[in-house]
Amino acid sequence: MTIPLARPWLGEAEADAARATVLSGWVMQGQKVAEFERQFAGHVGASHACAVSSGTAALVLALKAVGVGHGDVVLTVSHSFIATANAIRACGAEPVFIDIEPAGYNIDPADLARVLGAQCRREGDSLWYERVDELSCLAESPLRTARGPVGRVAAILAVHQMGIPCDIEAIARLAREQGLPWVEDAACAIGSEWQGERIGRPRGDVACFSFHPRKIITTGDGGMIVTNRGDIDEACRRWRQHGMVPATPNSLFETYACTAYNYRLTDIQAAIGLVQLGRLAEIVERRRERVAHYRAQLAGNAFFRIFPEPPGCRCNWQSLPLDFGGTGVDQGKLIHALAADGITVKPGIMNAHGEPPYGGVWQLPESERRRTETILLPLFHDLELADIERVTLALERFVAHV
Ligand SMILES: Cc1ncc(COP(=O)(O)O)c(C=O)c1O
Repeated sequence: MTIPLARPWLGEAEADAARATVLSGWVMQGQKVAEFERQFAGHVGASHACAVSSGTAALVLALKAVGVGHGDVVLTVSHSFIATANAIRACGAEPVFIDIEPAGYNIDPADLARVLGAQCRREGDSLWYERVDELSCLAESPLRTARGPVGRVAAILAVHQMGIPCDIEAIARLAREQGLPWVEDAACAIGSEWQGERIGRPRGDVACFSFHPRKIITTGDGGMIVTNRGDIDEACRRWRQHGMVPATPNSLFETYACTAYNYRLTDIQAAIGLVQLGRLAEIVERRRERVAHYRAQLAGNAFFRIFPEPPGCRCNWQSLPLDFGGTGVDQGKLIHALAADGITVKPGIMNAHGEPPYGGVWQLPESERRRTETILLPLFHDLELADIERVTLALERFVAHV
């Protein structure tokens, strides 16, 4: 039997919750969404949580809420699912890609400091990116059509890639020094911890989660914006629902304060999300047990290294990276050999600048290297230990021929 890469933990409890919501007659955003938000905020330790239709929608609203707009740039990584970069463009801004750490998968604070120091200049309260001409040549860049001065550095968007916390302390310090808001792309990171506290207790201005089925908990599609700032929460709530200001006892009808979106989550999805949130601790625990088994099986292998957990972090292992940098292992051949053995894996995390909308101007050696010197291994809550051994044996068989 083929071993899949991932499988969400969905069962009778989720089906019952969805059924009960359907039969209640109220299926759109309502009480279930409010309860999901309340429990989610409590779980991560944030003052506010605002549910939306996807992680991408969460990023778009969060970036807008910290002031990202037309003609701006946002400092982020290319080494992420393309939604990270697309969310910036959806705000009319352009991503400036920072490379990832040589020994990790997250934004490199040293490269971020280099770009802030060598490629940005301060004028009054604002910081300006000096190489906008290079970015304006990209066919889809909003900088091409922006009016007035372009290239204001509006925010930092740091990703906790695969649920591995980024160097929060260093990013927070750089953001503070430069007076920049920072947004956490925590799409993959529900259930991960940094220095004993959950990811999502905002260290930046706002953090965004995804409930896509490849994530730790799922609502089919869905996202959450968490923040301690009431102004950000209020703006996101308005934008997710057409700019609507609800009726009050004094104003009989709702009004529409601004141009906005329909980014709502439904009550059916939230009902499923509530059950999933109840499973979160066990899902993370089961994933961690399976990662420990992979590690034990591959201990001492000269070709393959399961990525070590960074100090001070407790990872949810949303994806499990296997690193073979510097060994001469060919990623394509490895993926095909495993597929022939009925084992589904994926290449390392994509680079947005490797795709047409962002390609042609960036060189990010660490991001590019990690993409091709990593594969993502099968990992899910009920992956059999025997199947893990099947994977590690297949890996060992492969390198016997290298
Ligand atoms: C790092 C990252 N950011 C953003 C997203 C977008 O989330 P969604 O698919 O819920 O829109 C994803 C994943 O899908 C992701 O992995």
